[in-house]
Amino acid sequence: MSGSETRTNRLPEGKGDRRKGGDRRSPEPARSAAASGSERRSGADRRDESSWQPVSIEISSSTSDSDLALVEAAADARTRAQAHYSHFKVGAALETADGQVITGCNIENATYGLTLCAERVALVKALSDGHSIFTRMAVVADTDAPTPPCGPCRQLLWEYCGDIDIILGNLTGPTGRLRLSALLPMPFDRRLLG
Ligand code: THU
Repeated sequence: MSGSETRTNRLPEGKGDRRKGGDRRSPEPARSAAASGSERRSGADRRDESSWQPVSIEISSSTSDSDLALVEAAADARTRAQAHYSHFKVGAALETADGQVITGCNIENATYGLTLCAERVALVKALSDGHSIFTRMAVVADTDAPTPPCGPCRQLLWEYCGDIDIILGNLTGPTGRLRLSALLPMPFDRRLLG
């Protein structure tokens, strides 16, 4: 993977900063909610996908050899997914500041609702093993379109990892990267608890 194609519009000013190896959990000042130019459609059925105007975010296609290694670790974890109900297998690999890689896969069960996403499995494994500073996470599914972490995973990753890099990939390798803050631009976190 090469180049730095931007699939969508730009991140807010300053969001492209890289804070390599540092503690990404240190909170930045709260950002204002951007109106992002979407029109108000009073009375319309907002469930109609054809009229969705998703907030577009920058996904860089510029990935490195180390991103490839992390994606390969996530792809390997994916082979152990317990996705008996959805058949949608996901793997995740979380990198610590000292270069260790902790992996996870999704684990489903008959209640459906107790499903554990790959990202959360990797995170809780890492935390329970005593890791606390993280730099990147790779997420891999067998899809052409990127599979980003779901909403609850974004929340937990934000709280425990901070503004890490998220490397998206599929079985062919990395397909893009972005910062977690681009996926969760207005987080609820401890700063709001007073
Ligand atoms: N899943 C993940 O593990 N991570 C994601 O980023 C998206 C969804 C899992 C949950 C469930 O087991 C299956 O994929 C279908 O939603």
